[in-house]
Amino acid sequence: MGQIVVLDQNMINMIAAGEVIERPASVVKELMENSIDAGATKITVSIEDGGRKLMSVSDNGCGMDAEDLAKAFEPHTTSKIKTSKDLHNISTLGFRGEALASIASVAQIKAVSRAKESAGANCVEIDCGNKINTSPASADLGTTIQVRDLFYKLPARRKFLRTANTEMEHITEQFKRISLAKKNLDMTLIHNNREVYRLSGKESFRQRIAELFSSEISENLIDTESDEKGIHIFALLGTPNISKTNNKFQYVFLNGRFIRDKFISHAIKEAYRGILEPDRFPIAFLFIQMPYEDYDVNVHPTKIEVRFYNANLIHSQILGCLREKLLGTELNIHAKLPTTAHTSFDPSTQLGAGPAPFGSEPQGQRQDGKYGLRAGHRSQTITDAMAEFFRRHKPIQTQQQTGSAIMDYYSRQQTADKQTTDTQAYSPAQIGSLETKFLQIHDSYIVEQTDDGFIIIDQHALHERILYEKLSNRIRNSKLESQRLLIPESLEITDAEADAIKKNAELIDKLGIELVPFGPRVYAIQAFPTLLAGAEAIDFARDLIDLLTDKGVGLDPDRLLDEILNMAACKAAIKAGQRLSDSEITQLLADRQRIECAGRCPHGRPTTIKFSLSDLEKQFKRT
Ligand SMILES: Nc1ncnc2c1ncn2[C@@H]1O[C@H](COP(=O)(O)OP(=O)(O)O)[C@@H](O)[C@H]1O
Ligand SMILES: [Mg+2]
Repeated sequence: MGQIVVLDQNMINMIAAGEVIERPASVVKELMENSIDAGATKITVSIEDGGRKLMSVSDNGCGMDAEDLAKAFEPHTTSKIKTSKDLHNISTLGFRGEALASIASVAQIKAVSRAKESAGANCVEIDCGNKINTSPASADLGTTIQVRDLFYKLPARRKFLRTANTEMEHITEQFKRISLAKKNLDMTLIHNNREVYRLSGKESFRQRIAELFSSEISENLIDTESDEKGIHIFALLGTPNISKTNNKFQYVFLNGRFIRDKFISHAIKEAYRGILEPDRFPIAFLFIQMPYEDYDVNVHPTKIEVRFYNANLIHSQILGCLREKLLGTELNIHAKLPTTAHTSFDPSTQLGAGPAPFGSEPQGQRQDGKYGLRAGHRSQTITDAMAEFFRRHKPIQTQQQTGSAIMDYYSRQQTADKQTTDTQAYSPAQIGSLETKFLQIHDSYIVEQTDDGFIIIDQHALHERILYEKLSNRIRNSKLESQRLLIPESLEITDAEADAIKKNAELIDKLGIELVPFGPRVYAIQAFPTLLAGAEAIDFARDLIDLLTDKGVGLDPDRLLDEILNMAACKAAIKAGQRLSDSEITQLLADRQRIECAGRCPHGRPTTIKFSLSDLEKQFKRT
């Protein structure tokens, strides 16, 4: 006896519903998308008990006549596509014709709709797939669909619904996505009779973002646009100081549809490389417009994923557009001062709460030159630095440096700099004529007076950025200038490492390193790049070989070179804890003016924190 039976249509729908209707938020998404496809300019979403009790979506769209209203809840019914050809050119949000049927199979529905040309409205009621009533009704043009008691006949699925607050969070997220994608629409979200959002179609993107998220976010966005190769991109990019620990705040829209795409996420991450710490995620709103036939949306039941026919092109267009803007923008961090001002200022106490006694070493500093200036430490470190700044209190002198010997390091730099015109080194006489007020504190930070306040610079991070820029400029044009070592330095090498050296001979040569076999499993460094004079040759070569042998394998050549330059800059840069002469500081500050992206070290940590006079005046209650 055969075991296999054909399921009845209601069962089929219930099973299909599992694909699109996961939770209340999925219902809200599908209903809102239908309203948009119906040409609505105003949508009101009203929720009770996190959607567990009721979800109602009203619109002023084209509506449905009695015949269509009856059909809409049947499986595989749609007005949006007719033949398979239409699948290649989908301009609507929906097209699969299953959402209403799926929703109707797992809840109680009441739908009222009135089409433009109809004399009156009609109402249909469905209870878990069974039509119970169709009748004339009275209503304005448009559609209202109410969904009650989701999954009430499916206890197993009902049990998986979370608390009203959690479900409401998911609904709110769907609402946010759609209202960002369609910013010209009036949209309202109500929960338990309380208005959560009332958005007007007249507001700007920034206003909408401020209402949906916060004004802090909307005020820290940089906008950019590009229109090339058939792809139009408009982006609002969060500055590094509002970055997040996950990528939930990356909103990508393709022709008005919210999507998640790994190529695009990667392009965003790459665009922020060196601008943001590697474990942070930028906030970004990306609106992409391109021909519908250049991608397929028919790959995922909830249509959140698409397949691009030319994913590389999308990736490179986005990366190019974002990166160019980010590199061309000054992204210094503005200091956040404590909100409660101290009424009396006692210079012997710290300017903010924190465990470190006054004048102690700054938190997180390591002698290896890496400075642990991360989100959590940031305000602590700023207050430390500020407190120290005021404690010393001696007026910041105008540094008049006339002809003192420039330290070893900078004279070597000058030799290297003479070769090219991309950077300029200052002679002692020139330095003497520069009027800059600065001070080195804790042998790690430079405090410099600016026109409207002062800045604190992390000397290692800034120098790292400067070296990185110099190295990449030079190497782009030619090979790095090198100096022969008086006594070659030798290092032991495994066979695998020797292979990696041979394979990358050209690259090593371009770096200005002469690395030659010097006996069995021994190589000697005979020449070393002048620009890296601050690094130990042997130490650098060791790390370079490690990189070429394992981590760098499989990286494309550009990326590999970038990794190497990052490492080189870090190793050769001035360290935290290193006392600098006035002329070195002057040189550092002058270099800072000339390079791109001076606000961030190549790893993305900030190099500079700004304090404005108005911040100070507020803190000291002078205004
Ligand atoms: N709010 C609405 N206003 C007008 N027509 C609607 C609305 N909601 C649904 N419809 C009609 O019902 C059809 C079925 O909807 P749905 O099951 O979501 O499938 P799809 O959106 O994929 O076409 C739609 O194609 C549309 O014609
Ligand atoms: Mg639909």
